[in-house]
Amino acid sequence: MDDLVEILGRERDLPDEGLRALLTDPDTTEPLAVAARQVSRAIFGGRVWLRALIEWSNVCRNDCLYCGIRRSNGRIRRYSLSREEILSCCERAWATGLRTFVLQGGENPAAALRLADTVAAIRSAWPEAAITLSLGELPRETLRLLREAGADRYLLRHETATPAHYASLHPAEMRLQTRLDCLQDLRDLGFQTGMGMMVGSPGQTAEHLIADIRLMQAFRPEMIGIGPFIPQRDTPFADRAPGSAETTLRLYSILRLIFPSANIPSTTALSTLLPGGRIAGLRAGANVIMPNFTPAPYREAYTLYDGKNAPRVESAVQIHNLLKDLSAAGFEVTSSRGDYKRYV
Ligand code: 5AD
Repeated sequence: MDDLVEILGRERDLPDEGLRALLTDPDTTEPLAVAARQVSRAIFGGRVWLRALIEWSNVCRNDCLYCGIRRSNGRIRRYSLSREEILSCCERAWATGLRTFVLQGGENPAAALRLADTVAAIRSAWPEAAITLSLGELPRETLRLLREAGADRYLLRHETATPAHYASLHPAEMRLQTRLDCLQDLRDLGFQTGMGMMVGSPGQTAEHLIADIRLMQAFRPEMIGIGPFIPQRDTPFADRAPGSAETTLRLYSILRLIFPSANIPSTTALSTLLPGGRIAGLRAGANVIMPNFTPAPYREAYTLYDGKNAPRVESAVQIHNLLKDLSAAGFEVTSSRGDYKRYV
């Protein structure tokens, strides 16, 4: 196994059977993490980029079978932050030293179009900040407006690269190809573009994860978001088993070795499943943390999966603890935008 880790580190690729072995063998978790950490250190110098996550709206037109803010969930209170509320989140994040604002929300094209004014307001108030959007699939013209308003980056997980698996996670009207077209639009419009998938989503096999890796090797995203699937009680997948934290950690390491300079967040889903998961993710090769700056009263309504808001470690009061944990674990937090830089 150590040979496989070594080859992956050197070649930044492996044939399918090598990836399958690394993904499925628990004995590889530690050697993979050691190798991935070395690459992260070489590229990011032990620095961690912080992104302020602002969950601006949970109104969504989609009905993804895994997601708690799916359209047909009638048990959550729907909300959208006003422009003033969004700006005050940015204000708080900026004062804390964060230099990237991430506006994330359910897929709602009409609202996304109106959000362009807010993006422009953020851009003019904080010219040096990076603005990341995560608003689902949008028409190319809307994306263009948002880009012109000042957005720099866009996160749109592809969720799975296998069409049949995609169809088992989504309602019939959603198509993998539409999402891939949207990713291409984002790239064409000059966004730093993020893709990714859940680990252990219902029906997922190692073959699906290998296909995900192959798709990302073809697209070369600047950012990669992954986290374990966690069931949400009001969804059709309420009774499905969660994904494995260990597999998620191995995948962080594999992705770091294949995509040395990609910005890879250690996600909330991992820390929901695994105490100390946030640091564990960084130690496995991730280089980004996204503290939650959504105002407290709205947080419980942004319930993608169960337990998401339980630790409350990301409230503004506790960001201090996060910074302490990071420095205790040997990571340096910087007030840099942390843009993607190509590894040479
Ligand atoms: N468990 C883990 N991640 C989830 N997401 C949505 N629902 C869940 C869940 N139940 C992820 C999806 C989506 C991102 C915003 O959150 O990958 O792209």
